[in-house]
Order: sequence, then structure tokens, then C-alpha cells
Amino acid sequence: MVEITLETVKLHNKPSDLWVVIENKVYDLTKFRGEHPGGEETLDEVAGRDATKDFIDVGHSQEAREIMKKYYVGDLAAKDCKGKLPLREIGICLASVVIGAVAVLLVKKVLAKN
Ligand code: HEM
Repeated sequence: MVEITLETVKLHNKPSDLWVVIENKVYDLTKFRGEHPGGEETLDEVAGRDATKDFIDVGHSQEAREIMKKYYVGDLAAKDCKGKLPLREIGICLASVVIGAVAVLLVKKVLAKN
């Protein structure tokens, strides 16, 4: 899997070299630009940036989602990803709380016995 930073995506911001980010994935739409049913200009406007909101707002069809797979070039670098929950960290945090609570209960039980 190729990881691409937002800095790199920003370099491809022209009609002749047009990359966009949609849902944390990077697409090279240079060749698709002329075929886009929504027009060339709409893509030019989002060239080199995150177009997730614009893409979703249009309510693209399942067919559009199939087409986009052809233009996928890599994943957006984790540091630039939006809206992804840090599940690992949340998991570690919850586990620590549970282990802490169990430890406190055990200590209480032992103390109550004595
Ligand atoms: C990989 C990226 C994209 C693909 C494959 C794609 C494909 C398509 C397709 C197949 C349609 C026809 C309607 C449908 O099937 O939903 C469409 C319409 C349209 N698209 Fe895209 N699109 C892409 C990205 C974008 C982006 C980033 C924007 C906005 C900046 C955009 C704006 C539009 C608009 C305005 C229409 C016309 C909607 C209408 O006439 O109701 N598209 N696109």
C-alpha cells in the first residue's frame, strides 16, 4: 500500500495533473477529467485537495464508486487522515480503566477479609 501525504497531493493541482483525496484515498483523475459526467471544471476546482465533502454532497451513484477504483493511486498518509478514530489508543485506555477497577475491587476484598 502506497502512503501519500497531503503535501504531495497539493502538487498535483492542475487540469493536466489532477489528484484529489476522497475518503482518505488518493485518486489521479487526470485521465478521467474529460469523461466526468459532472464536468471538467468541477474537478478542476478540487484539484490537489480533499474533495470528500464535494463528492458526497453530489450523492454519487454506486457506478461512480466503481469507476473511481480505476483511478486509485494510494492511501492518504495516516497523519493527514480525517475522521479516523484512534481505535488502538481508545482500546488501551479502556483496558487500563477496566484493569484498574478490577485491581481496586480485589484490594478492597482482601482488606475487608482482614
Ligand atoms: C473519482 C472521482 C469521481 C468519479 C468517478 C465521478 C463520477 C461521476 C459520475 C459517474 C457521475 C454521473 C452521476 C452518477 O453516476 O453519480 C458524476 C456526476 C457528477 N459529479 Fe462526479 N465523480 C467523481 C468526483 C467528483 C468530484 C470530486 C466532484 C465535485 C467536486 C464531482 C461532481 C459531480 C457533479 C456536480 C456531477 C453532476 C451531478 C448531477 O448532474 O446531478 N464529482 N460523477
